[in-house]
Amino acid sequence: MRALLAFCLAVPVAVQAAEVTAPATEFVQPERYEANPAGAATVAGTGFRAPAANLPPSLRMGFTLGEALFDKLWVPAPSSTRASDGLGPLFNARACANCHPGNARGRPENGQGISGMVLKLSRRFPPGDGAEGIDGWRGMIADPEFGWQLQDRALPSLEPEGQLVLDWIEEGDLRHPEARHGFAPEALVSLRVAPQIIGLGLLEAIPEADILAHADPGDADGDGISGRAQYAIGPDGVVRLGRFGHKAGMGRLVDMTAQAFSQDMGLSSVLFPAGAGDCTLAQTDCLSLPDGIDEGLRDNAEVSTEALEAVTAYVTGLGVPKRRDVGAPDVLAGKQAFYEAQCTACHMPKFITATSDNPVTSRQLVWPYTDLLLHDMGEGLADHRPEGVATAAEWRTAPLWGIGLTGENSGHAPRYLHDGRAATLDEAIRWHGGEAGPARDRYLALPAKTRADLIRFLETL
Ligand code: HEC
Ligand code: HEC
Repeated sequence: MRALLAFCLAVPVAVQAAEVTAPATEFVQPERYEANPAGAATVAGTGFRAPAANLPPSLRMGFTLGEALFDKLWVPAPSSTRASDGLGPLFNARACANCHPGNARGRPENGQGISGMVLKLSRRFPPGDGAEGIDGWRGMIADPEFGWQLQDRALPSLEPEGQLVLDWIEEGDLRHPEARHGFAPEALVSLRVAPQIIGLGLLEAIPEADILAHADPGDADGDGISGRAQYAIGPDGVVRLGRFGHKAGMGRLVDMTAQAFSQDMGLSSVLFPAGAGDCTLAQTDCLSLPDGIDEGLRDNAEVSTEALEAVTAYVTGLGVPKRRDVGAPDVLAGKQAFYEAQCTACHMPKFITATSDNPVTSRQLVWPYTDLLLHDMGEGLADHRPEGVATAAEWRTAPLWGIGLTGENSGHAPRYLHDGRAATLDEAIRWHGGEAGPARDRYLALPAKTRADLIRFLETL
């Protein structure tokens, strides 16, 4: 029955994509299928941990194994549990789930350890890192002392690289965090909060051509919105369209997962084979500690290829909750305001995913509210660290699906934007600048009731 339903919901091949994904033009009633943001992968209830409703029995085992590995607390090597050792020597957390609680977001707060936040590091690199073919590529290398990110925890025999301490800078009635640090002046840093991880398999399945069709790097249509594709060099050296991370710095979910194992937990895999994770050549104490690699076992890595694939399958198989109250008059009025303020220029409502042999993500009409492109969001949101082709001020349009449920799933008050600076959706919108400045101004110019309706619409996503 479930399989049959899934089949019916997937978009029939004969249907013209342009017709189905055309923007809404009337707001008297909800659009067809609008309540199911992930197509047949939409899940009932409001939880972020549920598998896609169309996950077939054949993929359940991998999903369940991946879920267990996502939640698992890794231990240092050598230990009696050989299958889950190799943590560190430097790390930020012992489990994926520690930073993505409930598959939702981390939080930017001072205290004993900041959970779910990472300080990314790098240095500028002169041309010659192999990516000169990509227009606008900004070469970067790892920080020679600390690597790609600050690890604030370490095995007992080693000192952590430092602690992440946030200073909150007030700007009018808004505020944003800055990391206090004593790095070299050439070090480029970027504070990132762990995002929610639902619906990512569907984002990976959006055809590249459909994303590129909305890119307008030189703003040829003169609407003030450029939209540039990010290019990501994968750990396998292949250049792909970037989709994941706040600056879309990674192209595939498997790369993102392997990078998280390596940089956040110090665990190696075929894609990131260094047993010492993000330890640099300058960190000789770190390099001298034992790792969890057993010659000939687990594909000569701390995380076997099977385990890496299972965690990737888990992330790929997460659905998106069904929307609530799509037909309520205030929600429809808020949707209209969202369109009229032209939020949709970047937060593109819908796509049809590519046909593939993965029944979860194949040919679904999805409503992620992102174009997956980079946009200049102005000085207020800029970090100081270009990444790939992204400048300091450019960020990937954040997907908005599930945004109304992110607080209840995280288990703490929701925080928005790449560094979690915004405590409310209204604050998140008021931070929009650069290309999004005019849309923000249109939002601010709305009557209070219409602004509240727009927020209410976002809360139902
Ligand atoms: C120390 C905290 C931390 C841990 C542990 C962690 N993550 Fe993340 N995760 C982040 C941050 C921060 C980002 C945003 C990175 C960026 O902007 O490039 C992120 C991004 C992601 C993304 C991309 C989401 C998107 O919307 O593009 C995925 C997928 C992901 N993590 C999966 C995992 C998996 C799987 C694990 C365990 C192997 C894991 N993470 C462990 C902090 C963490
Ligand atoms: C020019 C492109 C653009 C336009 C126009 C735009 N946004 Fe955004 N939006 C973004 C980007 C990029 C981000 C991520 C910024 C960051 O993390 O710093 C974002 C983030 C958000 C977030 C926070 C998402 C999260 O996960 O934390 C909300 C809410 C949001 N936008 C709502 C809106 C609304 C409402 C409008 C219309 C008034 C709008 N946006 C117009 C590009 C845009």
